[in-house]
Amino acid sequence: MSSKFRKAVLMASSLVTNPKEFYHRLSSIVDAKISDKQRPVTQYVAHNLDNDLTQIEQKLGVELKEFLNESTISEVEQQLIQRADEIRPHAPFPLEYNADMTLARLCYAICRAFKPAVMVETGVAYGRSSSFILAAMERNGKGVLHSVDRPPLEAGAAQYVGALIPQAFRNRWTLHQGTSRRVLPPLLKKLGKVDIFMHDSLHTYRNMAWEYSVAGPYIQRGGLLISDDIAKNAAFKEWIDSSNPYAWVVVQHVGNMKSDKRDMVGVAVMS
Ligand SMILES: C[S@@+](CC[C@H](N)C(=O)[O-])C[C@H]1O[C@@H](n2cnc3c(N)ncnc32)[C@H](O)[C@@H]1O
Repeated sequence: MSSKFRKAVLMASSLVTNPKEFYHRLSSIVDAKISDKQRPVTQYVAHNLDNDLTQIEQKLGVELKEFLNESTISEVEQQLIQRADEIRPHAPFPLEYNADMTLARLCYAICRAFKPAVMVETGVAYGRSSSFILAAMERNGKGVLHSVDRPPLEAGAAQYVGALIPQAFRNRWTLHQGTSRRVLPPLLKKLGKVDIFMHDSLHTYRNMAWEYSVAGPYIQRGGLLISDDIAKNAAFKEWIDSSNPYAWVVVQHVGNMKSDKRDMVGVAVMS
């Protein structure tokens, strides 16, 4: 059976088992294949995490350098490489879905600097960004991470979401499976407030704009909204213009794992 046909069969069966999830998956396919094709990419002045670190620090009003130099980053990276080699032979979806090291290092340094008590992220894949966020929380001695992911339809895929996350960090981690449309509103309502929200799920205009608008009101003053892949459309820029954060900065991917090396991470500090 071809993989396209198998996906279509799995998708059709989800209409019976979970009609809401089916509808969200279908509308994301339409967004990605049709609506977003008509949207221009957005230009930003982007900074390099190493070469332009002083400017990034000045914009965000915190020092990140000492945290970027911590040995935890390379130790976690080594653990993830080893674990990725173990799961590669039976990995149900590509390991390349994982975030590149720019996002991972940025997440780590930001979590070390801002010391969030509660963080929510959408988009987990094998759990690369989650691992670095949790590693920072572990060193901070505080913080919990709620991750939202709609696993791929492939059989057995759900159990691999977050599979890279080291056991030692898992007591700070809760995974919520399902589309962000379905899972995020009740989760945010239950949490009441978040210190950092990060988007790295479905990068369509409609989904990005929607996630920012739903999560934004829950982010504390001085808290952050981080979004990966902001250059794909105007959602991040429009959100910045309408919510007027205290500070914001764009960091360029240098790329070692993702195919789209031109993309960027947006970071905003809420006023
Ligand atoms: C770019 S990957 C996330 C990478 C991850 N942050 C990391 O560091 O490795 C995107 C993830 O978003 C998930 N996803 C796609 N559409 C989604 C949706 N509508 N709601 C929630 N998760 C979604 C996919 O299952 C995939 O795991």
